[in-house]
Amino acid sequence: MTILVTGGAGYIGSHTCIELIKDKHNVIIIDNFYNSSPDVIDKIEKITGTRPKLYPISLLDKKNVKKVFEENKIDAVIHFAGLKAVGESVEKPLMYYRENIYGTIVLLEEMKEHEVKKIVFSSSATVYGIENNPPYTEDMKTDAINPYGYTKVMIERIITDVCNSDSQWKAALLRYFNPIGAHESGLIGDNPNGIPNNLMPYIQKVAVGEQKMLKVFGNDYPTPDGTGYRDYLHVVDLAIGHIKALESIDKFDGAVPINLGTGKATSVLELIHAFEKASGVKIPYEIVERRTGDLAVCYADTKKAETLLEWKTKFSIEDMCRDSWNFINNNK
Ligand code: UD1
Repeated sequence: MTILVTGGAGYIGSHTCIELIKDKHNVIIIDNFYNSSPDVIDKIEKITGTRPKLYPISLLDKKNVKKVFEENKIDAVIHFAGLKAVGESVEKPLMYYRENIYGTIVLLEEMKEHEVKKIVFSSSATVYGIENNPPYTEDMKTDAINPYGYTKVMIERIITDVCNSDSQWKAALLRYFNPIGAHESGLIGDNPNGIPNNLMPYIQKVAVGEQKMLKVFGNDYPTPDGTGYRDYLHVVDLAIGHIKALESIDKFDGAVPINLGTGKATSVLELIHAFEKASGVKIPYEIVERRTGDLAVCYADTKKAETLLEWKTKFSIEDMCRDSWNFINNNK
């Protein structure tokens, strides 16, 4: 199949492109490199031996998005492109709604215009909000507490409504838990510009000396060691989840939300120690105040992904830490 991947140069997007190419799909990438780098395309080529076709454009650029659909016979879309920093979304809500919501609307309009009716959407466990209790099941009511989270809730709604308007449309709304790790080659991984918001990228920066000390946001949560527990999964497992979703999508009834996680939760301190063991590098940390909006515990119920997609994670926390370390050590 020919698959259009929006945000294909990003962290999860690039790993997914590799799995698509490995599976003999023809990959076309749209990316404006807002939060990624053009050399990721070279690295995808180096790893797979195939260079994906690239359109270095924004989804807001309707004229050029239309051209992508006119110039290629696209079978399905995997939609990653979007902004994802929670704090920034609180400061710049209009930018988040414009990029994420309007970008998706342009994409869906062009899909409709060109009769492309299959989409896999990059959603997040953030849509479970703060009222539900883990393990999260896909039938729980969705909600958000910041503009970033609302864009995910709203885009899921928009795609569901498009599917409801035409029974030929099929969508997988993939709710990711906490992807970490990197490709085994050490060529691609998560390496955000500036000070990272997420835990593993921060640990990586401390490991290579770019940050002095990790801040652990709170050790007074009602959890076994007092720090936050999350469902970390290897980004390559996550990428394979997208392939499984594409393979199953024809049998879907409209838009289907599916959790992609391991079903197991690991604490901040456990992750730090696993990383230290995998890397042999000490990670100095200090306990600071809780971060606003953080949950104590977040993990997936994984039954739906197992039955509907026949997908299950294979990599362990040790594998994730080894590959995150290998990547940052290769790219410091
Ligand atoms: C965060 C976002 C979530 C988003 C996801 C993916 C918040 C509140 N949530 O999830 O909406 O979908 O990223 O981008 O921002 N931690 C530290 N020190 C750090 C960083 C994190 O102790 O420097 C802790 C956090 O308190 C949490 C755990 O590590 O307990 C994981 O944090 P993070 O990697 O930011 O992921 P989430 O908070 O789960």
